[in-house]
Amino acid sequence: MHTYFFQLGTTSKLSFAELVSVVDEQSLEKITDQIISLETKDDLDVQELQNRLGGCVKILQSLTVLLAVTPRDIAEAIAVHAAEGRINFAFGEFNRGEEDKIDAGEIKKELVLLGRSARFVDGNRSGISAAVLLHQHKVQEFIVVTTPSSSYLTRTVAVQNIDDWTVRDRKKPYADRKKGMLPPKVARMLLNINRSFDESEKRVVLDPFCGSGNILLENAVLDDAGVGIDLDKNSVTGTIDNLRWFSETYQKPHNQQVHLGDATHVPEQVSHIITAIVTEPFLGRPKPKPEQVPDIFRGLEKLYLGAFKNWKTFLPNGAPVTIVFPHTTVKDVEFNMDHLIDKLLPLGYTTVSGPLKYSRPDAIVSRSIYTFILKK
Ligand SMILES: C[S@@+](CC[C@H](N)C(=O)[O-])C[C@H]1O[C@@H](n2cnc3c(N)ncnc32)[C@H](O)[C@@H]1O
Repeated sequence: MHTYFFQLGTTSKLSFAELVSVVDEQSLEKITDQIISLETKDDLDVQELQNRLGGCVKILQSLTVLLAVTPRDIAEAIAVHAAEGRINFAFGEFNRGEEDKIDAGEIKKELVLLGRSARFVDGNRSGISAAVLLHQHKVQEFIVVTTPSSSYLTRTVAVQNIDDWTVRDRKKPYADRKKGMLPPKVARMLLNINRSFDESEKRVVLDPFCGSGNILLENAVLDDAGVGIDLDKNSVTGTIDNLRWFSETYQKPHNQQVHLGDATHVPEQVSHIITAIVTEPFLGRPKPKPEQVPDIFRGLEKLYLGAFKNWKTFLPNGAPVTIVFPHTTVKDVEFNMDHLIDKLLPLGYTTVSGPLKYSRPDAIVSRSIYTFILKK
């Protein structure tokens, strides 16, 4: 049996939903909101899994269960599992509650007493950040993970390639930040969740409010076909430019098409090939005045209902729709799309995931992510 631990990003509920959609749920166990364990018979392709997930920061593999969590025991275990020669290591610990921090300097001393030459790279209590570790090819990171039953000595076996995520977030030619853009990692999480419900033989994802095309770009990374629609000409040409840039940068075809169009009247030329929808629709102004909020939410509800009615006409039975809905609180009154969701059920849309909350730190309007399955 192999034991792995996934360290999730800050949007841990959303990241967990993504992990569950990619890995067999039954073998996952939540240790904390951000640390998830996985028991498996087979070795995992950790790099492939890390590259697929938007919400996972690091993957750790258990080396051994520690009988006692002392510098001596940890050093002995490291000495067994580290390659020959000098041990260049970082150290961290997860979920040790009120226990004193383990002194990595003591581990180094014990390694020397065991006859091993060692160098310790300082980090914080949970180890060194993924962004730094990514570039420290000679450093092995060891992390003690404490679960209700045991303490494991683990090694970090994959880290998020933050440089690559930043390229798609910041370097693409077109970005309309005023309209609001989905961070690439969140776009990826939405796609992974949606994908797990798509039973079609030839997946084609529609983003009917494509904006700058962040969902289509992540869809291209996943090698799935996609279609984008937007009412705004600049968004359409901008998304086409972004996809061209993607193919040049990553040296691979993107397999996405983009059209000018209305999300509530998806053009027939593309609607018949669609098997799933993943979208962050128009959410209203990012900073509405409190007195405008009721009208804005009424308008959005009408827009979304019109769109869901149109999508029902062409989506195949069982098609998943993953969508971001806005919510906000004004003077203790909550505004959300609960009313709309009640209207979706009679149309055939059943909620299978959500609400998963996602919010930028200073946002007035927060986001809730839902996945519906259309039963026809
Ligand atoms: C929040 S933005 C989408 C941002 C996108 N998720 C991204 O990451 O770039 C919403 C987009 O919906 C478009 N839009 C608004 N109403 C629409 C409609 N009825 N049909 C199609 N697109 C619409 C806007 O032009 C805008 O580009």
